Amino acid sequence: MKSIALRLMSGFLVIIVIISAVFSYVGIRFIENRVMAEAQNRVSESLMASTQIYGSELRSIQQVVRLTADRIFLKDALRSGQVGRAGAVLKDVLRQEQLDELVVTNAEGRVLLRPANPTRVGDNRANDPLLQAVRERREAVAATAVVQRSELLREAPELAARTYADTGRPADTPDRMMLVAAAPVPDGGNRVLGMVYGGVLLDGRNDFVDRIKQGVFQDALYQGKSVGASTLFLHDVRIATTVLNADGTRALGTRIGAEIYQRVVLDGRPWVAPTFAVSDWYLAAYAPLKSIGGERIGMLGAGLLEAPYLDLKRRSTLMFLAITLAGTALTIGLSYVISQRFSVPLRTLVAASQRLARGDLAAKVPTPAVTEFAELAQGFNAMADALRARDEKLREFTRRKIMESERLAVIGQLAAGVAHELNNPLQGIVAYSHLLREKEGERGGNGSKAWVEKIVTQADRCATIVRGLLDFARPRTPVTKPTAVKALVEGCVALVEDQALFHNIEVVRQFGADVPEVVVDPSLMQQVFMNLIINAAEAMPDGGRLLLTTRVDPAEKMVEVEVSDTGHGIARADLDRIFDPFFTTKAVGHGTGLGLAISFGIVKEHHGTISVESEVGKGTTFSVRLPLRDRVEG
Ligand SMILES: Nc1ncnc2c1ncn2[C@@H]1O[C@H](COP(=O)(O)OP(=O)(O)OP(=O)(O)O)[C@@H](O)[C@H]1O
Ligand SMILES: [Mg+2]
Repeated sequence: MKSIALRLMSGFLVIIVIISAVFSYVGIRFIENRVMAEAQNRVSESLMASTQIYGSELRSIQQVVRLTADRIFLKDALRSGQVGRAGAVLKDVLRQEQLDELVVTNAEGRVLLRPANPTRVGDNRANDPLLQAVRERREAVAATAVVQRSELLREAPELAARTYADTGRPADTPDRMMLVAAAPVPDGGNRVLGMVYGGVLLDGRNDFVDRIKQGVFQDALYQGKSVGASTLFLHDVRIATTVLNADGTRALGTRIGAEIYQRVVLDGRPWVAPTFAVSDWYLAAYAPLKSIGGERIGMLGAGLLEAPYLDLKRRSTLMFLAITLAGTALTIGLSYVISQRFSVPLRTLVAASQRLARGDLAAKVPTPAVTEFAELAQGFNAMADALRARDEKLREFTRRKIMESERLAVIGQLAAGVAHELNNPLQGIVAYSHLLREKEGERGGNGSKAWVEKIVTQADRCATIVRGLLDFARPRTPVTKPTAVKALVEGCVALVEDQALFHNIEVVRQFGADVPEVVVDPSLMQQVFMNLIINAAEAMPDGGRLLLTTRVDPAEKMVEVEVSDTGHGIARADLDRIFDPFFTTKAVGHGTGLGLAISFGIVKEHHGTISVESEVGKGTTFSVRLPLRDRVEG
């Protein structure tokens, strides 16, 4: 058995748990998606910014080369055919502008001047796509380019040697990557005197990527690590990067995953995804770098350390869970209050009905706010009121009954006393009246015989009344023995059957078979049945039918004797009083009103019951129920 509060609470709990679970799941997924979308946005923007910075670097080299090509002394030197004269100035330019390569060619692309290595000239660069573009467009161009180590060797051996701490590629691998620009040296007219070609070697240029990173991410740190990373790739190899190895050195020469290389460089599609780079997870984005001919030769990468976002995600999730939990706790608290609102009135009602059951009729319940409970409480209070009213009536009735029976008891005692006192003189009167009658009879009578006869009758009658009274008053212990009720009833019938009273009465017997013997005082019980039979006959002055029934009721372990008549019946108002002593409806001098009172006492003494059912004009049935032997106690 569960209390209503418990049921309500568990119902609420199930709902709350389901709602919070769904809510938490949706909320956490939402936070995850938001944070990751935000991070992806951020990394895409970073890559865009990096590309812009890269482009501006490219433009600044283009600018330098263009301005150099425009200088008068270079035109003069080219016109005069003595290009070597420009060597000293161009060497200064090389140093000041921090270029790694600077050459001057003739209009066809043959190298005329190499300020960094003046003896190595004369090589033909006509096939260089950048110079071809200059010749075609007659203007300055710039691009990222893959350059051969052999070309760098011509410029300066230390340049060719400058590479990075290599992990997989041999140091003399031919490919290097440069930012290159070239510009025509115009004659003033339509003729081109020559071309200037300059470039910056990107391999190992960590300061270059540092600048990009600085421009994009500033100095933001997370747990001592920079939140952003910037890397230049030649093909799939990191040639300049801000990503560090575990020992703190730059992760140069390491390769990117084949999948990313395939996608970005070979397929030319963008990539934004969580990527493991060297020792940390980054959310990384890559954009391909193209040569002047449109060929994808490498990538520019921007990475955002994933950890701060995971951290943010974790903290947001925790915060969200904490709020959900607090909400859940609050809801549970509220549902407790609500369930109490329902269960408290019910508990009060239960307690009140228990008090009522224990007899405290003053038990009342307060009226709660909920309509149905209020109705219940009002119903209960009305019931308690009704019970109290009935209880008071019953008390009053009992009090009256007790007073009445006390009065009757006193009358009974008085009557018994009077009867006792009257008995002796009455015996004298009876004896002498009988003697007088005999004497009168002997003397032959002179007219006073009828009077004497009257005296005898009346005296006998007085004696009968007094005997009845004495019987009623005298406490008599029954002398019991096993007796067949059928025989008792038959004995009674035999005694009265021939009397005038019974002349017009048909006596019907319905004696049940197997009715066991009962343990009774036979003479007392005979008195009872006799009384009932005579009463029945007296109720049928014009004749009728007297039905005598005996039966056994095994369930109740009782033997039942019914005396039923078709007489005038008993008025409803009299039914309550027929067992009272001296209650009689018979004419004065015809009934004492003691018959049923005495019978009631006798049956009660035998632990039995006597009851009556009657309908005026139809007849009356008296039932005497006597317990079977094993029910008789004491
Ligand atoms: N079978 C019956 N039919 C109708 N009324 C009856 C019957 N038996 C009893 N009564 C009513 O009950 C009253 C009381 O009966 P009870 O036997 O005590 O006294 P009584 O018969 O009047 O007087 P007594 O028995 O002393 O001669 C009767 O006066 C009668 O009104
Ligand atoms: Mg009687």
